[in-house]
Amino acid sequence: MRILHVAAEIYPLVKTGGLADVAAALPPALAERGLDTRILLPGLPGILHGVADLKPLIRIGPAFGAAIVTLRLGRLRDSGLPAYVIDAPFLYRRDGNPYLGPDGHDWGDNHRRFALLGWIAAHIAAGELDPDWEPDVVHAHDWHAGLAPAYIAQNPGLSTATVFTIHNLAFRGLFPLDCYADLCLPGRKLTPRGLEFHGQISFMKAGLVYSKRLTTVSPTYAREICTPEFGWGLEGVLGDRGAALSGILNGVDTTVWNPGTDRDIDRTYTVENTAGKKSCKLDLQAELGLKQDAKVPLFAVVSRLTSQKGMDLLLAALPELLGEGAQLAVLGTGESGLEAGFHQAAAANPESVAVHVGYDEALSHRFMAGADVLLVPSRFEPCGLTQLYALRYGTLPLVRKVGGLADTVAHASPANLAQDSATGFVFNDANSRALTTCLHEACALYRDENAWRQVQRKGMTQDFSWNDSAAHYEALYRSL
Ligand code: ADP
Ligand code: GLC
Repeated sequence: MRILHVAAEIYPLVKTGGLADVAAALPPALAERGLDTRILLPGLPGILHGVADLKPLIRIGPAFGAAIVTLRLGRLRDSGLPAYVIDAPFLYRRDGNPYLGPDGHDWGDNHRRFALLGWIAAHIAAGELDPDWEPDVVHAHDWHAGLAPAYIAQNPGLSTATVFTIHNLAFRGLFPLDCYADLCLPGRKLTPRGLEFHGQISFMKAGLVYSKRLTTVSPTYAREICTPEFGWGLEGVLGDRGAALSGILNGVDTTVWNPGTDRDIDRTYTVENTAGKKSCKLDLQAELGLKQDAKVPLFAVVSRLTSQKGMDLLLAALPELLGEGAQLAVLGTGESGLEAGFHQAAAANPESVAVHVGYDEALSHRFMAGADVLLVPSRFEPCGLTQLYALRYGTLPLVRKVGGLADTVAHASPANLAQDSATGFVFNDANSRALTTCLHEACALYRDENAWRQVQRKGMTQDFSWNDSAAHYEALYRSL
């Protein structure tokens, strides 16, 4: 069976979040199961430079505002999988964030940039671009690839099965109606049963409406998005497609995230011998200018600093956390008000709060290894990957009971501790009071070394590798 994944980013070449990690890890996990798997990517500078042996496959000519479009074929360096890259210099050869210009606003031609991605996917599916390879399934990720199923549905001669995965429904790929004329789609699709969404066009909705199957990245989020609280206005569409929708949990790429082999940390460690973790903590405290003290609980954040991630709740709860004598280390970028809030906290508490505003992959590994607790107090969280990384690194995740966080972390309640099922800390309500109570619980458990070790060991031995998830995706493809 031949599977074509379509995604806008891929670790380590271009990454703004967990989507890139999934795009890098899921296709090789499928290939390992014997599926003939390839990926289609836009020719952003990082991708053009990072894909190996990139050769022109076919020259397509002008499309979507680009004078020249060339489809190239190469292979991913880490996994060796074949990768199609759309080289459209006018649309994609722009440095920085793949979606935003230097002014921090969406590129004005994003509708054309990502329509091209879906359009090429459909033409590969039709066998028009690569005479040697036609996919049985096109698996499109998030709104950037949302038009792929629409273009495929558009071609009556095409029986390619389509799967669309929602990584974050908050980003709906919205554009003004007058952009529709640029999309090469027939007028009849521009209705509320098609791409139209309250007087705009939604690429996400295109994926939801025209794919044969829909998945999202955790079972809980699959249920949540069918409700108004989490549905971003698309809960009706999702409700109508309920039978086609399922939740499949993301996994961890254990070649990248493994405390026993991690090259970004000075001392590696394993569940049997966590001595190295203690020295990673002292190293991290020193690196960040925090007071070096093995006994003080070190809480960490590795995240986009946004309200989705509940970072305002954390700022509100911070005085109580510091009142416990704990430390906080933050690695992230995002909303300027939140960045400023963390900077202020660090300036007022230099020995106990450190903030690194920026995106730093190697440092994120040192955070994961050096911290005692990883904080993910999200308002909503489709899956969340950092809590999975934390579990493997013996760093207890403290999360809100929502989306994939609810599916992956078990609270250290007396009952769970008694039956040895606890792996971290979980709170219910999206307010700073509930978070504060949970922070106190974590500090109390930290003082009980044996109980802490028990929870840590349980977390480190959880299996969140891609094997299971890949098996679920394979079953889904076969059912089509
Ligand atoms: P989301 O995709 O919603 O941002 P995820 O938890 O799924 O959340 O994935 C976030 C990914 O980005 C993880 O791999 C995490 O380690 C990484 N990440 C987030 N912020 C930073 C940062 N400032 N520096 C390095 N890596 C980061
Ligand atoms: C999105 C979600 C995150 C998820 C990631 C990968 O960015 O916000 O929860 O883990 O996609 O699926």
